[in-house]
Amino acid sequence: MKELDRHEAFELASPFPYVLAVTLDKRDRPNIIGLSWWMFTSWNPLMIAISVGHKRYSHECLEHHKEFVLCFPSEGQEKDAWFCGTKSGRDVDKFQRTSFRPVNSKVVKPPIIDGVTVAYECKIVNQVDTGDHTIYIADVVAIHGNPDRARHLYSIHYRKLLSIDCKGNINLDLEY
Ligand SMILES: Cc1cc2nc3c(=O)[nH]c(=O)nc-3n(C[C@H](O)[C@H](O)[C@H](O)COP(=O)(O)O)c2cc1C
Repeated sequence: MKELDRHEAFELASPFPYVLAVTLDKRDRPNIIGLSWWMFTSWNPLMIAISVGHKRYSHECLEHHKEFVLCFPSEGQEKDAWFCGTKSGRDVDKFQRTSFRPVNSKVVKPPIIDGVTVAYECKIVNQVDTGDHTIYIADVVAIHGNPDRARHLYSIHYRKLLSIDCKGNINLDLEY
């Protein structure tokens, strides 16, 4: 064993499943953020938590409207998925600036991103401040998916995306 700094440790512990959370802003316009800090927190009921930086536009959105859709972007969506993790909704409309197409959710108000591998509709039931992020804890109220688009995206630190499917097939050479 050797001592690592946080960047070396993040790199070494990668890949992390990279997801997109769709929220609604004060004008009820949808925004999308790229996240690797998310987790399931309960099986019954099914619950998910996401950790969102206090300075993110998505934080403002989640304070305004306590619902989100957690989407697993599929292979082929890497360019737009990376855009959503590197540009702020304060400056750009991410649905306008990407080829992502919003599809109506079944239960919540924020839309689903068309073509993702899996999408969880979530209603926030609790939140916890932790350092410079807020953890939003949510009930899953509906689930959608595209079994024909199984390969989805993972991040290496904050530097690179790759895709893996549930059978372990991996693609390291994504272009975005
Ligand atoms: C691989 C990757 C993972 C990220 N994970 C998170 C995360 O878990 N939480 C977070 O607040 N921001 C995370 N970010 C940063 C946000 O996606 C980024 O700051 C985004 O521009 C915020 O958009 P917004 O201002 O529209 O909310 C991540 C970015 C990348 C590229």
